Amino acid sequence: NQTGKNLKKLIESNFPKEIKEIIMHGSNLADKLGYRIFLVGGIVRDLILNINNYDIDLVIEGDGLEFARELNEILNGEINTYDQFKTASIVTKDGIKIDIATARREFYEFPAALPQVEQSSIKFDLYRRDFTINTLAISLNRDTFGILLDFFGGEKDIIDRKIKILYNLSFIEDPIRIFRAVRFKHRLGFKIDDNTWELARNAVKSDVMHEISFQRIKEELYIIFDEVNTVDILNDLKKLGILKEIFPEISSWDKVFSMIAQCKKGIEWYKSISKTSEKLNNRFLYSIIFCYLSESDEDLYKKFGLSKNQREIIRFIRIKGREIIGKVTQDDIKPFELFSLLKDIPDEGLIFLTILSKKKRQMKNRVKQFITELRSIRIYITGKDLEELGVKPGPLYKEIINKIYREKINGKIKTREEELELLRVMIKEKREDEEIV
Ligand code: CTP
Repeated sequence: NQTGKNLKKLIESNFPKEIKEIIMHGSNLADKLGYRIFLVGGIVRDLILNINNYDIDLVIEGDGLEFARELNEILNGEINTYDQFKTASIVTKDGIKIDIATARREFYEFPAALPQVEQSSIKFDLYRRDFTINTLAISLNRDTFGILLDFFGGEKDIIDRKIKILYNLSFIEDPIRIFRAVRFKHRLGFKIDDNTWELARNAVKSDVMHEISFQRIKEELYIIFDEVNTVDILNDLKKLGILKEIFPEISSWDKVFSMIAQCKKGIEWYKSISKTSEKLNNRFLYSIIFCYLSESDEDLYKKFGLSKNQREIIRFIRIKGREIIGKVTQDDIKPFELFSLLKDIPDEGLIFLTILSKKKRQMKNRVKQFITELRSIRIYITGKDLEELGVKPGPLYKEIINKIYREKINGKIKTREEELELLRVMIKEKREDEEIV
């Protein structure tokens, strides 16, 4: 199980300074407290694969909560403790995430297939995990620093690029792992081991999907949406029979996949034209696709946990989307009309409409015009100007402001002087009509 391999050099060369500092603080603290400390899971997997991953996962043989509190005394970050599970998480001031778990010893917590021999608690802890590639641990105590622990052949599976579960009931115990298997496959370019794939299929057939809360499924889906290969991942989930179990409302997955692929490009396009792309809510955007293409979207609103406002936007797009696209892509549309059609639709909705449109280039040009030019246009004159000319707040006041706004967006007027000129003309006309006395 101890491979004799020492990854000290790899740690030194691959991890940034901040990560190494945290690791050294952890190492010294564990030595001081007399605990064994291990770096485990994804960060070890990715270290071996030379992939940047700086989410630190630690397992402590000892009191993990005490360790976490003391570590945070040194790091001065934000700590959350989960006393029931004896785990804690810290986020440092630099935003580095550290998860700390206490290695569990209790024999009865484990599946029936467990070997009946006394083993170190780190081995028990690693045995509970999803795939062999995630079961590697690196010892961090000073006397054994860097030594790789590989109880379940994880290193070989990483080298062979294979995703394998550790015990046959793994997917039954935690069906979310099926999503994870497929996600890792496409993220890492690995293969799912035949036996593991078969067990996943059987688990789905035996109806396990209904046992997980949609909250957990949703979280997993959101991670999948953020992956580069979202469509490939969803396609595998479809092959496994999962999609029809969790989304019976959706009949045409080809349409969903096609829209998601376009959506990825749409997001890139949006980023290239917009300065505020960090505000884009990708999750909401993907939820729009699912809801739009479902037969009964009300259920999906609940599943995705959409807010009242988000639901209203989707309902609006369902009812008005095509009509808006039709108007927006007309050849002779005036800027103000374009502005009025799009002004209440959030950017996620605008991207969705470009995907939905058949005249894509035209639609994109119009949305771009709206985002980059029209919606930032402001008028110079204020309520004070109107007041000085004798117009009091009320419907007329609004009418005048709207008119000036329209002329400005349509490019008829530009300067404050021109705005005031138009204002004076309008007031004069209104006086003649005796609307202002
Ligand atoms: N794990 C598990 N079953 C799950 C979720 C997680 O066994 N349903 C285990 C995995 O072995 C994983 C560890 O818990 O290594 C930590 O989980 P997480 O941080 O989600 O995994 P990472 O492997 O770091 O994956 P990611 O790259 O997505 O963060």
